Formats: sequence, C-alpha cells, structure tokens
Amino acid sequence: MTKKQTFMGLIMLIILSVIICVILLNSKHAGESDSSASASVTETEEATASATATVDPETDSRFFDTDSLLIIANKTHKLPDGYEPSDLRAVTCNAAYDGIQMRDEAATALEKMFAAALEDGVTLRAQSGYRSQSYQEQLYNSYAEKDGTEEADTYSSRAGYSDHQTGLAMDIADHDGATVFSAAMKDTPEGEWLYQHAHEYGFVERYPEGKESITGYTFEPWHYRYVGVDTATAVYSVSPDETLEEYFGISGGDYAE
Ligand code: DAL
Ligand code: ZN
Repeated sequence: MTKKQTFMGLIMLIILSVIICVILLNSKHAGESDSSASASVTETEEATASATATVDPETDSRFFDTDSLLIIANKTHKLPDGYEPSDLRAVTCNAAYDGIQMRDEAATALEKMFAAALEDGVTLRAQSGYRSQSYQEQLYNSYAEKDGTEEADTYSSRAGYSDHQTGLAMDIADHDGATVFSAAMKDTPEGEWLYQHAHEYGFVERYPEGKESITGYTFEPWHYRYVGVDTATAVYSVSPDETLEEYFGISGGDYAE
C-alpha cells in the first residue's frame, strides 16, 4: 500500500466517523423531542383530569341544596334549621292513615310504585312520610326516654338530621302492618318486591343490612328514599345494598359530638 493510499484510507475513515457521529447525535435529539412531546401529552391529560375531577362531596351543592333530590340528611349532614319543603302534598296511595305527606315528585313516584306492586299482587302501605323538625324532636325524645340516647341513636334521628324531614322518604309497611318497623319485613312479599323493584321508580333502600357503620342506623327494610330513577338505578346496579354515602363518597357514620 502506497503512502497516498494510506492517506486516502485515513481520510475516508475520518469522514465515515463524522457521518456516524452526526447520525447518532440526530437520533439522540429525536428521542429527546419524543419524550418532551409525551411529557406535554401527560401534562395535558393531567390538566384535563383535574378540570373534570368530581367536586368534593363535602362541598358539592347537590348534597346540600334543599331543591336537590340528592339532599343528604345523616348524622354528619344536618338539614338547614327548620327546613320544610315547599311542595309537600298528601300521598293518595294506600296508607296507614290520611295526610301522610311527601314532596310532590316523590309522592307521584310512590303512587306509581304502589300501583305497579299491586299489579304484581303486592299491596304496599305508606306508614310514615314527611316529618317536621319539631315532630322528629318529639319522636326522638320519646325513644330516648324509653331506651336511652345511645340506643335511640341507632334507630331514630335527632331533630334536624332525619331523612324524613327532606320530604323524600317513606316508611313502607306490608299490607296489614304485621311486620311494620321490623327487620322481618325483609322476608315478606312486600319487602322482597321493594328490594327488587323500588329503584325502577326512583327509590333506594336508605339503611341497608350490614351498612350500619356507614349510614349510622340499623337495618330498615321499610325505609325508602326518593332520588330519581336514574340515580336509583345507578346506585342499585352497583348493589341493592349500596348506600348513598358509598356511591357518592359522602361522609356518614356517627354524630361528630
Ligand atoms: N329512622 C330514621 C333513621 C329516622 O329517624 O329518620
Ligand atoms: Zn324511615
């Protein structure tokens, strides 16, 4: 190999090395720009997620507005002092006595539900609907006197905390009231029918079995709460024993004090 050939070989080698270096540098920058692109996608996704994040249930107006069908009354959600719905009316379906009231939309849904049950051969009986704050106070005080406050708190709301004061709740008995306000109602045709069909008319079982620490109350197979068909169906489709507290992530359980 002549000196000239060796020199040319070296020149070719240097050119080749420069080309390889340029290619490698380019591919590195390409990688960097990819990862920065994906970082910006991730940031965008995060921003979108935070923009669409659900409102904090502890401040969400759906659970506090008195106009809302989702207004919550439990041991950590007190109703506005002296609250009385403006659209109460007496229900016209089968009832233990005259004058049992609910808010208009809930009453209409209840009447439809009672008619549907009757078509299935099941006679439901409205037992206790809207209760004013002062009536709930009398009721709670009488239970507390009889059983003591600790026991009364397991089954009766203190004034201002009752689901009945919303005008959206109804205690429903079997046709002759044989199991009224008793867990045994669960196994009656009326209890079974309600458990399977109430959501179709917009009602949820408010105090399901096994959920005492979440709702704050013992099992009440008779207490149904109107929330509207869409919500009731969505809650039921999670489980017939799903509570509003669980479904919406709302606090429940015992009184703070
Ligand atoms: N029995 C229900 C918890 C009430 O007193 O409202
Ligand atoms: Zn009740």
